[in-house]
Amino acid sequence: MSKKPYYITTPIYYPSTKLHIGNTYTTVAADAISRFKRLTGYDVMFLTGTDEHGQKIQRVAEEKGITPKEHVDEIVAGIKDLWSMMNISYDKFIRTTDDYHMKAVQDIFKKLYDQGDIYKSSYEGWYCTPCESFWTETQLVNSNCPDCGRPVERSKEEAYFFKMSKYADKLIQYIEEHPDFIQPESRKNEMLNNFLRPGLQDLCVSRTSFNWGIPVTFDESHVIYVWIDALSNYITALGYGNDDTELYKKFWPADVHLIGKDILRFHTIYWPIMLMALGLPLPKQVFGHGWLLVDGGKMSKSKGNVVDPVTLVNSFGVDPVRYYLLREIPFGSDGLFNNEIFIKKINSDLCNDLGNLLSRTVAMVEKYFGGVIPAQSVKEGIDDELINLALETPKKVEESINELKIPEALEAIFDLIGRANKYIDETTPWILAKDEAKKDRLGTVLYNLSEALRFVSILISSFLPDTAKKINEQIATTNVEWDSLKEFNGTVVGTKVVKGDNLFPRIDVDAKLAELEALKEAESKSSKREIIPIKEEITIDDFSKIDLRVVKVIACEPVKGAKKLLKLKVDLGNEERQVVSGIAKDYKPEELVGKNVVLVANLKPVKLRGELSQGMILAASTDDDSILKVVDPGELPTGSVVR
Ligand code: MSP
Repeated sequence: MSKKPYYITTPIYYPSTKLHIGNTYTTVAADAISRFKRLTGYDVMFLTGTDEHGQKIQRVAEEKGITPKEHVDEIVAGIKDLWSMMNISYDKFIRTTDDYHMKAVQDIFKKLYDQGDIYKSSYEGWYCTPCESFWTETQLVNSNCPDCGRPVERSKEEAYFFKMSKYADKLIQYIEEHPDFIQPESRKNEMLNNFLRPGLQDLCVSRTSFNWGIPVTFDESHVIYVWIDALSNYITALGYGNDDTELYKKFWPADVHLIGKDILRFHTIYWPIMLMALGLPLPKQVFGHGWLLVDGGKMSKSKGNVVDPVTLVNSFGVDPVRYYLLREIPFGSDGLFNNEIFIKKINSDLCNDLGNLLSRTVAMVEKYFGGVIPAQSVKEGIDDELINLALETPKKVEESINELKIPEALEAIFDLIGRANKYIDETTPWILAKDEAKKDRLGTVLYNLSEALRFVSILISSFLPDTAKKINEQIATTNVEWDSLKEFNGTVVGTKVVKGDNLFPRIDVDAKLAELEALKEAESKSSKREIIPIKEEITIDDFSKIDLRVVKVIACEPVKGAKKLLKLKVDLGNEERQVVSGIAKDYKPEELVGKNVVLVANLKPVKLRGELSQGMILAASTDDDSILKVVDPGELPTGSVVR
């Protein structure tokens, strides 16, 4: 009989920043679900990948002096290394720069254009470069991008648009008729009430201001703008739009798209509408999980609180990290990553409960039976509690995973571990061992413990794959099939156990916390910022063409309708000038009045937002523009030359 297909996806990641523990979370969760589905007999397709186009990538590559493809190739190699370190068992890794994907996306775009769902117009709005999203005035939060909180720029360009509104009613009806489509439930209401019911705006789907993207075949000045390119990956990875569509036929529609809540709108509104327009079935479920927070807030590079999975794995091993993510974060809500809670959880659950169960059992089989697993010959009533719980646990785990309740699945497994530890205390094997007449009873107890460990190992293998292997080595079992959990007799009597190292050595909490703190400090000291390469060499004659002057700001006000701009009146000593400068997010007008600044005095005047700008004020900024400071020449007479 052929296996039932199961198709699960993670988002495709932007290769623009180093992946952190938050991104790792989605992928580890998808991996656990995939492994569990394989274990329980499904033919699984687990897709992940990278979302490689866009203005930001192009900019960074230009700054590094390499091609965008060279730039993304480097980062993608690092992402693949991270997934291998985290034991991620993806079946396919798609890159949006893959030929088959680009061709299929071009065909999708053309089809949507030919059937009238995409039309050409122009777009004027507020643009957030890091998010590659246009926003309307009303969507901005404190004049910044509502998604990432960073400043936006006014931008206008010719663009193609997707007629989203045409399909809105059909989508509302679909969501209402398919209660499982958007999960968790609360997120469904948010999508319906905040976006769909108030009315959908058409979506900008092409750009002309940069060229690192998939070209529109029939209008080459345009590249296909990020979401049509990115979302299509879920079907192009299966061969949709190419010659071999066997995987598409087998796996589409997807069983679940796992994503973070910030990209739910794209997955539950734009993506289904694209699919409706293409006449394709919608994914069965989109699950938007919460944020992984650090010290109560979002991780961000500028706050310096980004948790690096590589550091954690190097310090603790991969399974403790997987365990914390899967067990501690309620799947669907926000959760906290905290070093102290993490270490304490390793000590209590992994070291005390699981590690000790294994080491005690194997040690007793060695001590009392020369390492050979004894037969189950003298049963007592107390055994049934352990045996019944073991037999019930697979179903509990399976039900939890089917509802994507990963922490609950682990809880059920740890209940069994707890029950087995309690069984040791209740049966007191060390007392049975003192009485030769109770040898068979002692054998039965140790058989039951070995078999309980075999259950635990199979059940836990999807979540902590390395740990499961180590347990199997010590209890020397190769009987690891899911179906063997139907009966409590899969351990082979006479097998010789192999005592190994402790699964999880006990961690000294204070010492480890201090070590992590020291590591963090050392890393932040040594972490080299990405340095923007020095521009092409110029001669002193080239430089002497630039006339830099110390000027005093005598008046300053915002430019109406331009959130980033300030209009300054400056005194050069013998004349006054007006200069428009993009420093409004960093300075209030009153902060500048009376200050000396440096003016590029012989720059050709231009008009910015209708205002004359006679020169440019010098300012220095960090590479991500998060900090910007106007250059301060100190107290020199106005008109002084800077050279
Ligand atoms: N490229 C888009 C996705 C396109 S899918 C067709 C993207 N990439 S991303 O790299 O910025 O983010 C990838 C995923 O990481 C998103 O699901 C996002 O929600 C998730 N997370 C980013 N930070 C996170 C946390 N702090 N916690 C949990 N998930 C987080 O978006």
